[in-house]
Amino acid sequence: MSLQLIPTDLPATSIDVDTLVIGLHLQELSASARAVDLASGGLITALLESGDLSAKLYSLGRLFQVPGVRARRVVTVGLGKAGELDMGKFLKVVGDTARSIRSGPGTRVASYLNEAQVPNRSAAFLSRQQAVAVLQANYRYEATVKRKPGGPGLSEWQMAGADSTDVAIGVALGQGQLRARELGNLPPNICTPAYLAKTAKELEQQFASLAVEVLDQDQMRALNMGALLGVGQGSANPPYLIIMRHQGGGDAKPFVLVGKGITFDTGGISIKPGAGMDEMKYDMCGAASVFGTMEAVARLNLPINVIGIVPAVENMPDGNSYRPGDVLTSMSGLTIEVLNTDAEGRLILCDALTYAKRFEPQALVDIATLTGACVVALGKHAHGLMGKHDDLVEELAAAGVQVHDRAWRLPLWDDYQPQLDSGFADMANIGGKNAGAITAGCFLARYTEGQRWAHLDIAGTAWDEGRKGSATGRPVPLLTEWLLRQAGQG
Ligand code: BES
Ligand code: MN
Ligand code: ZN
Repeated sequence: MSLQLIPTDLPATSIDVDTLVIGLHLQELSASARAVDLASGGLITALLESGDLSAKLYSLGRLFQVPGVRARRVVTVGLGKAGELDMGKFLKVVGDTARSIRSGPGTRVASYLNEAQVPNRSAAFLSRQQAVAVLQANYRYEATVKRKPGGPGLSEWQMAGADSTDVAIGVALGQGQLRARELGNLPPNICTPAYLAKTAKELEQQFASLAVEVLDQDQMRALNMGALLGVGQGSANPPYLIIMRHQGGGDAKPFVLVGKGITFDTGGISIKPGAGMDEMKYDMCGAASVFGTMEAVARLNLPINVIGIVPAVENMPDGNSYRPGDVLTSMSGLTIEVLNTDAEGRLILCDALTYAKRFEPQALVDIATLTGACVVALGKHAHGLMGKHDDLVEELAAAGVQVHDRAWRLPLWDDYQPQLDSGFADMANIGGKNAGAITAGCFLARYTEGQRWAHLDIAGTAWDEGRKGSATGRPVPLLTEWLLRQAGQG
C-alpha cells in the first residue's frame, strides 16, 4: 500500500499538504472551518453567503490559494445539519471526498473531517471509520487491467484529531475489507479453489498469529464430506477445505466463521441462464469475507481465538457432475436428495459446518451468497440474517448498525422446515418457490443443531451489479466490529 494514513495535531491553517479537507455543517462552522475563515478574512462565510460554497450534505467545493492557509487548495464538503449526520452519511462524505481528490492533482491530503458531529459516535470511532473509508475510496481493481485508468491515487491522508492507535485499527480493518474485495473481483479462471488455498498459505506466512491447514479431496473423502465433494466432482479444478486459525485467546473457545467459496457457479447440470452468469465469479464472496476478516483480526492481533473455514469448490456441468436426483451423504450422516444442482452453496456449507463442530465454537457464523430470493426480499442494502439464538443474532445486527454494514433478520421458524421434505432422502436441497432465503437457512439449521449459530445471506450485498460493478467487501465491517466487541475493543 503506497497510501499512508497518519494522525496529525497541526492546525488546519499551517499544515503543509497539497489539499486540505474541511467539513461544513449547516448553521455552525467546525473548528477548522472557523480557523480557515478567520485566517482568510472571512472567505468561507462570504462564499457560503454568496452560494459559491454549500454546507448541504455531500456538496463539494474547491478553493485555491486561500489567504492565510498553507495548503495549496482547500476542499470543502457539506455535512448538512449537525444532528442529522449518521454513520452511513459520514462514510459517504469521506468516500466522496477522497474519490474527488484521488485522480489528482494534490494527492497529499490533510483531513479535518473528524470534527463532523455524528450522534453516538466517538471521535476515536470516527478516526477508525475515516481510515476505512479512505482506503476503500482509493481502491481500484488492477490485477488484470493492463492500461491503468485514472490518476495516481492518494499518496498521503493525514487525519486531524485522531490518535495513532485508532488510525492503525482503521487501517487493519480497511486492509481486511480490501482483501475481500480483491479476492471477490479476481476472475474465476485465476481465483480457483487452489488459488484460495494458496492465498491462505500466504496469509499464514505473513501473520505470526495465523496457522493454516488445507484439506484436499482425499482428506475430505476420508471425512465423508459427500455433499461438498458431490458439488465439486464436475470441475477440473479440485476442491479444498481451507482452515485458518488465529490464536490470540489462549484456551478460550473460538469464534468460527464459515464462508461459501464457490469460485464459479454455473448452476451445474441445472445450468443458469447465460445473461449475467459472469457475476457468479462473486459466489465466493462469503469466503472472501472470511479471508478479509481473518486478515484484519491478525493485523489487530485480537486477544481472542478466531477460526475461518472456507469450502472452496467450483460448480460446473460435466460428464462427471452430480445431477438432479442424486442422493448425497453428508459428513453428518444425513442424506440429501439433489433436486437442483444450482442449490450448491448449502451442500458445501453443511459439510463445512459439520466440520466446524470439532472446534467447539462459542459462536458459529456462516456467510454466503446463498439465494437470489434474499436479493428479492432485501435488495442490495441489507444482508439477510437468520438464527435461533436471539442474543447472537442481536449482537451481529448491532455490530452492523454501528459500522453501517447492516443486516436484517428473517425468521427461521421450524414451520418452514417441511418444505425440505424428500421421499428419497432425509431432506431435499431446495424448498420450493416460497421463502427461498429462509428454506436455505432451514437447511443449514439442520447441520448446526445445538450450536450457537447464525447465518448471513450476502447474495445482494457482496457486490455491485453491472459491467463496472465490483465486490463491496461486505460484511467484513460487520464481522470485524463484532469481533472487536468480543475482544473488548469495540
Ligand atoms: N449463488 C447462487 C445465489 C445467487 C443468485 C446469489 C443470484 C446472487 C445472485 C446460488 O447458488 C443459487 O444458485 N441459488 C439458487 C437456489 C435455488 C435453486 C433454490 C437461487 O437462488 O436461484
Ligand atoms: Mn447456485
Ligand atoms: Zn451459488
